[in-house]
Order: sequence, then C-alpha cells, then structure tokens
Amino acid sequence: MSSVYKGKIALWSWYEAETVASTNDEIKKMVPDKGRNIVFSAVCQTKGRGRRGRSWKGMEGNLFFTYSQEAEPAELGRIVCLTGLSLAKVVKKIAPGARVQIKWPNDVFLEGKKLSGILLENISGNLWAIGIGVNIVSAPVLTDMPYRAVSLRECGISLDRTEFLRYYLDEFAADMELYRQQGFAAIKGQWSALALNYQQEISIKAETGIKSGKFAGIDDNGYLLLKTGEKMERVTAGDMFAAWNGECGLEEKEKTYK
Ligand code: BTN
Repeated sequence: MSSVYKGKIALWSWYEAETVASTNDEIKKMVPDKGRNIVFSAVCQTKGRGRRGRSWKGMEGNLFFTYSQEAEPAELGRIVCLTGLSLAKVVKKIAPGARVQIKWPNDVFLEGKKLSGILLENISGNLWAIGIGVNIVSAPVLTDMPYRAVSLRECGISLDRTEFLRYYLDEFAADMELYRQQGFAAIKGQWSALALNYQQEISIKAETGIKSGKFAGIDDNGYLLLKTGEKMERVTAGDMFAAWNGECGLEEKEKTYK
C-alpha cells in the first residue's frame, strides 16, 4: 500500500491512500487497533469487491471508501437500507431536479442508471465495514448486468470526491441519529419515496433462484416484500430487476437474463 494521509472529517478519523487493493480490507486491518469512527478512502482500488462476488472497477477520480459501524446483526437489513438512503439524499442535494432512486436494498440510480454501490461486510462481532463506491467522473461498462452505469460528470455535475465523502458522512450521521431516536419508520418512509420499481412487477435473483412478483415495499427490517397473487413473501437478499420494462435501461437482447 502507498503512504497514508491522516486527517479528520467531523468526528471521523480519516485515512486516505493513493492505491489499495480494497478499502474494506484496510478498515478490517485497522479497526482492532484504531477503534471506532474510522473512514478509509483510496484514490485507486486494484481489487475492489462488489456484492455477490462481483468486482468493482477502481478508476482514478471516482470515490472509494469504507467506514466502520456498530450494529446488532438483527438490525442489519435496516442499516443496509439506511446507507442507501443517505447516499441518495446526498445525490439529490447536489443534483436537484435529477431522477434519483434507490434500487433495493441500497444501489443508487441516477437517471435510470447505477451511480453507486455499497458492500457491507462483517469485521467482528457487532462491527461492520460499510464500503461505498461512487462514480464521480467515469462509469464502467457493465457486462454482467442488464442495466448501465453512470457518473456524476456524465450528468453534468462536477464535484470533488472528497466533498462527496464529507457530505455523505454528515448525512449518514444525521440519518443514524434519526433512526436511533425515532426508529426505522422515519427511515422507511423516506426510503420508500425513492424506491425504484415500487409497486411494479419485478424479478429477484437470489442464491436459491429467481422469484417474480409485485414489489410491495420494505418491511420493518428492511426486507423486500414481494406479492405474488394473494401471497406476500419477505426477501432478505438478492438482486432486483425490473420486469423487462426498460426502467433500468434494459435492451431487448438482455431480456433473457437469468
Ligand atoms: C456493489 O454494488 O456490488 C457494491 C460495490 C461496493 C464497492 C465499494 S468501493 C469501496 C469498497 N471497497 C471495496 O472493495 N468495495 C467497496
């Protein structure tokens, strides 16, 4: 790893390196020594990870960071949704008037394309690494997904990656405070107002296979509610896809995605 800059963002101890394999790995190494409230960012990532074993491209100019967060395993689904909401709210503030949506559980979509992703991993016990990638200046070509990626720059928004990081940490701290004071209902309402494909026919690709039905929102744990006929099912993990209506930028040839 290259040399590390140390600074402060509000109450967070902030570390930044030029190049690392993955900021999630850096946080996992640091937390036992350095304690809580740590954020680690990198200018480039060489082995960035995404959800479900995918990779996350580490192009210079984009934002890659991970911070440590304490949470009971039982509240993880709520924290997952909350992180996506905080991220979406930052994007809404810097891009007023743009179409900003959250694809369950926490991908942020801008103008129908993926802008950012979040990977939550356990450090130990109740400590979690929340790793976030935001396409600030460039978006990768997604070969394995039936939608496209977008960057802030492509949408005419120029913002320094560190500014984005500061905005996000402030928003997250405020949303966590709201959640701790008023419970998940206060988060769920805001999240639902930004939900992509809400009340529409969707498919969920999970470890166990593909399920389809109407996206009826999220429950009090942040799990997805899928309505098939009279049956309501809770989905705890998986990738959501629109029912091939173009909402996620699907091409005709991609409709056979399995
Ligand atoms: C996804 O949408 O699949 C989640 C992508 C998460 C990428 C971020 S970039 C910073 C942190 N370090 C990683 O290796 N992954 C996360």
